Amino acid sequence: MCGIIGYVGQKQVKSILINGLKRLEYRGYDSAGIAVLAQGEICTMKCVGKVAELAAKAQTHFPYASTIGIGHTRWATHGNVSEKNAHPHLSDGNYFAVVHNGIVENYLQIKAFLLEKRYHFYSDTDTEILANLIDYHYRKAMQCSFGEIVRKSLLHVEGTYGLAVLSSIFPDEIIVARKSSPLLIGLGYGENIIASDAAAVARYTQRVVYLNDEEIASIRSDNFLVTTLREGVVDTVCHNLDLEVRDADLAGYPYYMLKEIFEQPSSIENAMRGRFTEDNSSSKFGGLSLAPQELRSVKRLLFCACGTAYYACLAGKYLIEKYARIPVDVEYASEFRYRNAPFQSDTLVFVVSQSGETIDTLAALYEAKRKGYTVMGITNVVGSTIARTTDAGIYQHAGLEMGVASTKAFTSQLTILSMLALLFARQRDMDSFTGQQYACALKSLPAAINEVLQSSKQIRHIAEKYCNQKHFLFLGRQVMYPIALEGALKLKEIAYVHAEAFPTAEMKHGPIALISEQSLCIFVATQRELLEKTVNNIQEVKARGGKVVAIINDKKYIWEELCDEVIRIPEVHGGVNPIVSAIPLQFLAYYIGVTLGCDVDRPRNLAKSVTVE
Ligand code: F6R
Repeated sequence: MCGIIGYVGQKQVKSILINGLKRLEYRGYDSAGIAVLAQGEICTMKCVGKVAELAAKAQTHFPYASTIGIGHTRWATHGNVSEKNAHPHLSDGNYFAVVHNGIVENYLQIKAFLLEKRYHFYSDTDTEILANLIDYHYRKAMQCSFGEIVRKSLLHVEGTYGLAVLSSIFPDEIIVARKSSPLLIGLGYGENIIASDAAAVARYTQRVVYLNDEEIASIRSDNFLVTTLREGVVDTVCHNLDLEVRDADLAGYPYYMLKEIFEQPSSIENAMRGRFTEDNSSSKFGGLSLAPQELRSVKRLLFCACGTAYYACLAGKYLIEKYARIPVDVEYASEFRYRNAPFQSDTLVFVVSQSGETIDTLAALYEAKRKGYTVMGITNVVGSTIARTTDAGIYQHAGLEMGVASTKAFTSQLTILSMLALLFARQRDMDSFTGQQYACALKSLPAAINEVLQSSKQIRHIAEKYCNQKHFLFLGRQVMYPIALEGALKLKEIAYVHAEAFPTAEMKHGPIALISEQSLCIFVATQRELLEKTVNNIQEVKARGGKVVAIINDKKYIWEELCDEVIRIPEVHGGVNPIVSAIPLQFLAYYIGVTLGCDVDRPRNLAKSVTVE
């Protein structure tokens, strides 16, 4: 949440900052701002709303030539959405400018201290105290370096931060620091660029250094130095990003979400590439680093994740328990971190996170490690904090996901979890022929998904017809229950309508009271084994005047007579069925959102990558 960018080099900085902010906008989009150094002074421009508005304003009202500056796109935590609360924040006297992602938890105490020292405050944010605290430490020890001043200041700060500081007193340098909020340094030739996200630096360089917690770095055009907050210089490792710049483009689609829905045949293919055994009867993961005996000795699995990734894990539980017969627990990472859950020693823990930066998931990972568990990661963002902190892990290889509502990352998580089910099953009782059938179904997934993508127009019509219904109920049984949950989450997120999900048969135990002509029930009815029961449930809804959309792959019933709308998808193996069944729900949410006039890539109140608690 909140995007940070900074540049020092030879080029004009304004457009670099604004282009970077456009790439980071999915991390927060209630306001944005930049600060540059021009003729010895810090010049700022801020704007409520989207980066495009800042860009337009900067074109006419920001004439400053400069080669050093910082920028920010905000997701409000402290203080409402207003220009005065937008970053960068300046110290009294304008010598320091700060952009910040995170929360300063003891900001009221620090503010009280600084008020006593006669500092003035103009915003309601916690960030502004950082600018004044730095100024205070500068005045206390004027002989200190810029980095040393920021370091001394941060020693008094409790909470989380990814921050960048610009100063008119130190005109060639930007200081950045990190505690729990991501930051990386993109290394160029005669220029360096810092950002909270690789998406913002990829067009300038592929060489990056990731800051770790409690590290602080001084960035100049031709060098950089990383130290820890307490101990001294850090030996940094340079990583290669391997990120396609075009991933961050819309490529002709009106929204990233739609682009990413259509990318799923290839993102799923990428998740599977090189990950099948030679005899095609099992899967393998280079990153998992567990010997067959170790895999076999695992008695229980625990998955921790948030939001969409949590629903992927819940679906994974059904698959792993069904095919591999290993008990699986799935925990909300945000709950697990504060719960003293009793777990057995032969439990293998997985944390799952698209961004690899979600603070709750990271905290769950630390908690599991503290308890001595081996923790594996399933992440999409290469080099993310979770990827670097887990004992071993699996990359999703879904490519950059820019849509705030996760789509292709969800199905690539499901794909990997399904492959894990196969792997664990083959380590236990699944014979090689059954394993080959499973692997073959996985390999056919891109083709099956391509088929489902053909139904986009039909789903658009359904969305247009029913978008004004008052309640949307998503119903699924067994592994389709988490898929229904994900369908409801997508719709809530991007269309702001009331949507809930239930295991289909649970409806009679309460939610059926919601059924009226104003409600639309979406049945994910793609499991052959429970069809008769589902047909009964559909009739119960129809008898009460509710409207029904059914996603089906069966040819036995005349579904068109039972339901108001029928979306047909191909019949596939049970291990991949949830993946194929999820796609129509993504389309439904997308088209309802668009029909209702919502900005589906920037849903209100949300931001991608939740790096605050
Ligand atoms: C929903 C969505 C969120 C994320 C959740 C976890 O579309 O994107 O619910 O799934 O915030 O994010 P990651 O996977 O980055 O840990």
